[in-house]
Amino acid sequence: QASPLIDPFHREINYLRVSVTDRCDFRCVYCMAEDMNFLPRKELLSLEELDRLCSIFIERGVRKLRFTGGEPLVRKNITWLLKSLSRHITAGVLDELTLTTNGSQLVRFADELANCGIKRINVSLDTLDKDKFHQITRWGDLSKVLLGIDAAQKAGLKIKINTVALKGINDTEISSLMQWAHSRDMDMTLIEVMPMGDVGALRLDQYLPLSELRTTLETRYTFHDLTEKTGGPARYVQVQETGGKLGFITPMTHNFCESCNRVRLTCKGELFMCLGQNVDADLRTPLRASENNEAVNEAIDRAIALKPKGHDFIIDRHNKPSVSRHMSHTGG
Ligand code: GTP
Ligand code: 5AD
Ligand code: SF4
Repeated sequence: QASPLIDPFHREINYLRVSVTDRCDFRCVYCMAEDMNFLPRKELLSLEELDRLCSIFIERGVRKLRFTGGEPLVRKNITWLLKSLSRHITAGVLDELTLTTNGSQLVRFADELANCGIKRINVSLDTLDKDKFHQITRWGDLSKVLLGIDAAQKAGLKIKINTVALKGINDTEISSLMQWAHSRDMDMTLIEVMPMGDVGALRLDQYLPLSELRTTLETRYTFHDLTEKTGGPARYVQVQETGGKLGFITPMTHNFCESCNRVRLTCKGELFMCLGQNVDADLRTPLRASENNEAVNEAIDRAIALKPKGHDFIIDRHNKPSVSRHMSHTGG
């Protein structure tokens, strides 16, 4: 039996987030600059290599696997990988296989995803206003995402809506977005903007502390704190008036690093120990060097021993990104 992944702060790592591509068909203003340089395709791990690496992590105690990007559904043949990894669910060694998507391709993929053993997905959606949606995503088409959500629900997938709180853009709409989500039996999570990468805008102009938003929402709604967790960083409340759940992801105003249970793998095989730190390890080289997993396991052990206590995100008027890579590199 391979040894579990325990970091220097006694946190057990059981959640692996995998960015299967750094590319995306949108260019959200808080995530990317309009003009981005993506990795050459030859740098990417193959799907077989990703399968092997994810399986090593599962042997080491990972129980939750989430594919992100960029947009995971733009990676060619991604459903092959999902289907292949679903064997670990069947074997009872993996609790959850899931993804976070912008929803643009869900019409095409919904049924296939459900057939891969996926039970629920997170869909990023920051507004229901067509023009605002275009303003935020630069390239996105809201109607496609809404049809994608319909298709996913029809396929039996449970959906959670992820909404980044954006000052002056969607702050006045959060309540109606939540009503819409809850009326369709979808939970919703609000996220604070994180200063990752240069996006060609002032972070201070985008950033809306969720503590403020929560106070505003509480003048209209009654929140009951929930203690249950999904394994992700959100803290949830039950909204009495709608019956739905609302989550808060607050890296800036209320740090959750003390309970961190996750590491991140990029599409070229780097392992990042923290979203808001630069500590990483190359797993591609040991992976390719031998059919035997020993060297990869050793590289993972060395990396986990360096997992920092927490991020140092700061948003101030100097506007220097706390880490220079974009969210799409490490997959959030
Ligand atoms: P659930 O399984 O539904 O709980 O999802 P999740 O919150 O684990 O994943 P999701 O992909 O929906 O992530 C939502 C947001 O949380 C993204 O913007 C991530 O960047 C952010 N997030 C996830 N993990 C961390 C973390 O360790 N640190 C920080 N700062 N943000 C995180
Ligand atoms: N800060 C906060 N959230 C971000 N996301 C992308 N970039 C950022 C950022 N800089 C969100 C997306 C998606 C999730 C994976 O990350 O909206 O919901
Ligand atoms: Fe694409 Fe998601 Fe980034 Fe938007 S937030 S550009 S949808 S990866």
